Amino acid sequence: MPGRVFITQRIPEPGPSLVREVADEVVMNPDDRVLSPEELRVGVAGFDAVLCLLTDRIDFSVLEAARGCRVFANMAVGYNNIDVEAAGRLGIRVTNTPGVLTEATADLTWTLILGVARRVAEGDVEMRSGRFPGWGPFYMLGGDVTGRTLGLIGPGRIALAVARRALGFEMRILYHGRRPSPELDALGGLGVPLDRLLTEGDFVSLHVPLAAETRHMIDARAFGLMKPTAYLINTSRGPVVDEAALVVALREGRIAGAGLDVYEDEPRMAVGLAELPNALLLPHLGSATHATRAAMARIAAENLVAVLRGQGPPNLVNREHLANGSPPTSP
Ligand code: DGY
Repeated sequence: MPGRVFITQRIPEPGPSLVREVADEVVMNPDDRVLSPEELRVGVAGFDAVLCLLTDRIDFSVLEAARGCRVFANMAVGYNNIDVEAAGRLGIRVTNTPGVLTEATADLTWTLILGVARRVAEGDVEMRSGRFPGWGPFYMLGGDVTGRTLGLIGPGRIALAVARRALGFEMRILYHGRRPSPELDALGGLGVPLDRLLTEGDFVSLHVPLAAETRHMIDARAFGLMKPTAYLINTSRGPVVDEAALVVALREGRIAGAGLDVYEDEPRMAVGLAELPNALLLPHLGSATHATRAAMARIAAENLVAVLRGQGPPNLVNREHLANGSPPTSP
């Protein structure tokens, strides 16, 4: 049953070794670069399984080129880069890597909360450039964190991990989601409508997946509701925020600042964002620790290997789109 595997970019161990133990042949793009759409289409053709990354746009044309393939194992928890519905129609399973990047992403969310409120990046530049004039009563004042209100949009695993850390900062926790979260309630969190969260949050932190209903969820209207002293934090997906509207909100002081790890059109960002001192900008580092990336590679490989062996993968995300919820295990 095992077959041929294509890995779209070099990934950390133990991912490649786990795949090699089982597959008949493994072809891995040796370069640390994202393949172009055409290279992807050519690359996936004729393979039984593909291990891909969030930077690979797996649209219908790529899935069609991969006809006969049994699985696209995405090395990410988010899978908005894959047309999961089309994959299901073609009988291709799609899997993700949930759980293993929760703590790393929550840590980075807190890096942004503290960093943007206390102007850490600006302070670093002051020191390196020799512009620090010496301590002053009004010099580089920022916002408070301890005791403030944290608004979490999308009460999943990562939001919960962010909330746990917030208890140490004695924060009031509001959350908004489609369903109540007993876990967040147990931490003292209060589920509220979106507008109330936007109006009352001192830090509004985004933890929703990217989908039609969350695209530009945070737009000019949302910035209009937020306090001028509030900060927006985004470690989810860039397009959840209307980045052009964010630039205006930051420039005009409608909100105090933004801590971003993700962007609407990565690796680019909206014109004007880079010039704004009240934006703390990180290059999609949420899961970027050695151990986390190794764990993601392991889980992606385990999902892929399970399908090669004719077993159900642990992290299937397109069950409802597959005919009868369960496609044939071999092409
Ligand atoms: C994911 O897995 O979706 C993260 O964005 C990776 O950092």
